[in-house]
Amino acid sequence: MSKDLDIEQATQATKTSTSMSTSIEVKAEPVAVVELTTTTTNTAAATTNGENNGKAEQQQQQQPKTTLTTITEQVQPITIVNADAAANIGNENKSNMDPSLINFKVLYVVTQLCGLTMIVLVGTWVGQHLGGLGGSANPKLEFNWHPLFMTIGFIFLYGNSILVYRGFRTTRKKTLKLTHAGIHLAAFILTVIALKTVFDSHNLVDPPIPNLYSLHSWLGLSAVIIFGLQYVAGFMAFLVPGMRENYKIALMPLHIYFGLFGFVLAIASAVMGITEKAIFALGANYSTLPASAVLANIIGVLYVIFGGLVVYLATEPSYKRKPLAEDTALLSGATNE
Ligand code: HEM
Ligand code: HEM
Repeated sequence: MSKDLDIEQATQATKTSTSMSTSIEVKAEPVAVVELTTTTTNTAAATTNGENNGKAEQQQQQQPKTTLTTITEQVQPITIVNADAAANIGNENKSNMDPSLINFKVLYVVTQLCGLTMIVLVGTWVGQHLGGLGGSANPKLEFNWHPLFMTIGFIFLYGNSILVYRGFRTTRKKTLKLTHAGIHLAAFILTVIALKTVFDSHNLVDPPIPNLYSLHSWLGLSAVIIFGLQYVAGFMAFLVPGMRENYKIALMPLHIYFGLFGFVLAIASAVMGITEKAIFALGANYSTLPASAVLANIIGVLYVIFGGLVVYLATEPSYKRKPLAEDTALLSGATNE
């Protein structure tokens, strides 16, 4: 007799099988389909016969027990596979955590440490070597807000907002979307302030310094414009209700690509900006590598490492957040957006 059974039914079948040939197809969806075929004999009936017959027959009667054990052993690993799948849908614990997520967690912590060190070092650099922070009455010092706020907003917060889906994978999608949009908004506000301070530092000095002449300023402003457009598009597509599901699906790859493109451009701009400022501030002394130059170079290296880690964590397929059961249950068609 042939039956299609799920795992629970299959386990049940191994316990209650009687004198018949049973073909059990165990479907461990979606990872494996295992087919077990066995011939078993009613254990109770076998024992009764065994009392009356010879040794050879007793050996024959013990065979069904061996077969039963084999089936149980084969079913158990499949049950574990299924438990893993269940854990992936949100109930991860340390004992059955996906190995790739262990890498993710380590790299995520390294990324955060790198980002925080970067911010502290920029603060130290402007505080110790560029004269500290000031208002519009002192445009030279007002400039110093520019690297500090760009680093906090347009590098650290931007990167962290990108990582929010993968870093908080057991949080509901709706909450993550609001957090993603919220952190990006905070990043944008700091970026606008950082732009205002640098424009002030050019316009409020006598004689004024020309605006937007450098490659740094061109690429930096391009990154900010891409970010602004991306924000509006992301907001309209994924937060404001009403966008058709197939449009959301079509937009998502573009959203991810341009989100990362803007981020890489921001990192490149920051590296150019810090090089430029080190040259402006130190002149010929840069080549003697004073403490200020070493610090500026280390900050540049940290920008690159932070950027590389964020892009890796956001693009490695095995780190992608899997939809939670409640995402699909509560949000219509939420699997793709
Ligand atoms: C990634 C974030 C950054 C963006 C988007 C950005 C953007 C800009 C823009 C648009 C300007 C032109 C301002 C004007 O022409 O009046 C500018 C100027 C400047 N920025 Fe940045 N910046 C960033 C990070 C930095 C960093 C980390 C430094 C390091 C100190 C820096 C140093 C400078 C300097 C020295 C100027 C004046 C010279 C010039 O116009 O190139 N920037 N930045
Ligand atoms: C400048 C603003 C934004 C940038 C740079 C940006 C960037 C990104 C990036 C790089 C990803 C891929 C993350 C991953 O695969 O783990 C992503 C995913 C996503 N973003 Fe944005 N985003 C922005 C604004 C928004 C806004 C305003 C919304 C509206 C809620 C939004 C909704 C989403 C959604 C739903 C995902 C899919 C997450 C997933 O794969 O499950 N984004 N975004």
